[in-house]
Amino acid sequence: MGNSNINYLAEELLEIQEKGLFRQFKTIQSHSGEWITLGGNKLLNLCSNNYLGLANDPRVKEAAAAALEVYGFGATASRLVVGNYELYDQLEKEIALFKGTEGALVFNSGYAANLGVIPVLVGREDIVISDKLNHASIVDGIILSRAEHRRYKHRDLVSLENILKNCGMYRRKLIITDTVFSMDGDLAPLKEIVQLKEQYGALLMVDEAHGGGVFGSSGRGLAEAAGVSEAIDINMGTLSKAFGGAGAYVAGSRVLIDYLRNKSRTLIYTTALPPAVIGGLLAALRIIRDEPWRRERVLTKAAILRKALKEKGFNTLDSQSQIIPILIGPVQKTLEFSHRLYEENLLVSAIRPPTVPVNTARLRVTLMATVRDDDLEMALTKLVQVGRQLRII
Ligand SMILES: Cc1ncc(COP(=O)(O)O)c(C=O)c1O
Repeated sequence: MGNSNINYLAEELLEIQEKGLFRQFKTIQSHSGEWITLGGNKLLNLCSNNYLGLANDPRVKEAAAAALEVYGFGATASRLVVGNYELYDQLEKEIALFKGTEGALVFNSGYAANLGVIPVLVGREDIVISDKLNHASIVDGIILSRAEHRRYKHRDLVSLENILKNCGMYRRKLIITDTVFSMDGDLAPLKEIVQLKEQYGALLMVDEAHGGGVFGSSGRGLAEAAGVSEAIDINMGTLSKAFGGAGAYVAGSRVLIDYLRNKSRTLIYTTALPPAVIGGLLAALRIIRDEPWRRERVLTKAAILRKALKEKGFNTLDSQSQIIPILIGPVQKTLEFSHRLYEENLLVSAIRPPTVPVNTARLRVTLMATVRDDDLEMALTKLVQVGRQLRII
């Protein structure tokens, strides 16, 4: 049956399976935010990016339903054709106000934004200098741009400066960094990166996927918390994590936004997001703006859990955010840890290579503002119990 020429895929899959790296979907039966039902079991969800609990907020759901009613199910076309209903303009206006920029542009996902923006900013004659642990979508955007791609050691300013010192031959230099690193939960040294970008005349793009809505006194992201918002040339952030929906934005100068609207292929050649998503996002943005307790609470809960995990002997790397890795190392042991927690009704995902470097497989705990303290205490007890059984601590 089928084409035997494709059998090389089966061989490769077998290899992936033998290394414990085979990936499968988990199928969710129901989902209330903090708790989730999987395979008939109700589990405390410690691996969601729904940091502020907005994916299930009744106001967000209501706004999404209202937009569905008014505009219908699908956008039916690219935004440059007939997919640009007025909610889109409203959302972009409010994102620009929120970020304090001249303009903003919404993309269909964070992945699409990074793929669509980076190749528009730089090309063959340019260089992109990127943190070694930047998200895969940034790496793919850089590859697509055909610019020279140099990676500096993770959060290492000496390594970054060494590259900057030696790139005089390139037309443009673009530095890119995640603000909150997705698999380590640590923070980019933005203040110092801004100093270097100014000293060497580079552009700076930040990805606030995990910083937006959570960091900064008004929730703009880590750049706000670091006091450097104004110095960022290209502000990218997702609408799929703290915002609880889907999509991403790029915020910046009017020129940048006009240019992207004209040139970005992942914006031009794709159908716009469904109206319900945009309606829900508008409500989510207003909640983020008006309810600072959510970001304060998620960071406080994370700090308490991280401290307790460290005291018990777990290695949480340099996490300083709502993302708390628990470093294990070997893949099989990490999978076993995650599996035993599952049996204890705790959902904590095992993160394996190639998502993280070889020998650094880990559990990745992410918190929500709305998780109950007694549930978190129960989670800590179980993490310690299983961690001891597996001799991790
Ligand atoms: C840093 C970073 N950038 C971009 C993305 C992609 O965002 P999205 O899931 O909206 O495509 C992610 C999320 O997975 C991320 O962690």
